[in-house]
Amino acid sequence: MKNIKLHKPTVDELWFREKCMSDPNTMAYNAGYDVSFEGYHKDTGCIDFPQDKWQEWANTKLNNSNFFYAYILDIETNQFVGYVNFNKDPKTKRATMGIVIKSEFHGQGYMRPAMMKVIEMAKEKGVEFLTDTVPENREKALKVFYDLGFKKTGKFTSKKFDQEEVVAEIEKEI
Ligand SMILES: CC(C)(COP(=O)(O)OP(=O)(O)OC[C@H]1O[C@@H](n2cnc3c(N)ncnc32)[C@H](O)[C@@H]1OP(=O)(O)O)[C@@H](O)C(=O)NCCC(=O)NCCS
Repeated sequence: MKNIKLHKPTVDELWFREKCMSDPNTMAYNAGYDVSFEGYHKDTGCIDFPQDKWQEWANTKLNNSNFFYAYILDIETNQFVGYVNFNKDPKTKRATMGIVIKSEFHGQGYMRPAMMKVIEMAKEKGVEFLTDTVPENREKALKVFYDLGFKKTGKFTSKKFDQEEVVAEIEKEI
């Protein structure tokens, strides 16, 4: 298994987040949604994250005890390969999570070890239920979630460009 650790970035290291979010290959999963927030590009899924926003983002996100964000660092190559996050509701102790691996590192086995670390970290931070929403056509990703103990709790449809997409709601009690 890949030897990784989760690394909380400093403001100066937010270049990697910008690199991921401006890369159409990495962000393709995020394209085509009818959402309108500043900096979102529906055609590619990319999200603007210029350097003048880094400090403000770090202040509101990295210093928020209910929000966890970390890079996935390959210990052997000393490279950042992706990032993970979760957002905890302090009342319900539920947290919604996300994981993104930069496209050039896809298919190299980073997802499972990174997910294992996220689950560990969520437990440490008092999360009782970890949830995610995953399009059902991301079968390889869903298999890893289910292998790690996530259960399907529901589904909904959303529109990606002009196609209906079925999205699974999944949850793990931790
Ligand atoms: C989903 C995502 C995180 C997967 O990352 P990845 O690093 O490419 O994943 P891995 O290489 O670890 O592969 C995941 C699983 O699929 C399997 N897999 C990968 N390529 C495969 C292939 N061509 N055929 C069969 N299985 C394959 C792997 O073996 C692995 O399973 P295992 O841990 O049981 O061996 C990545 O594609 C991504 O960032 N996507 C965009 C965001 C996203 O969808 N996030 C997740 C849900 S919202």
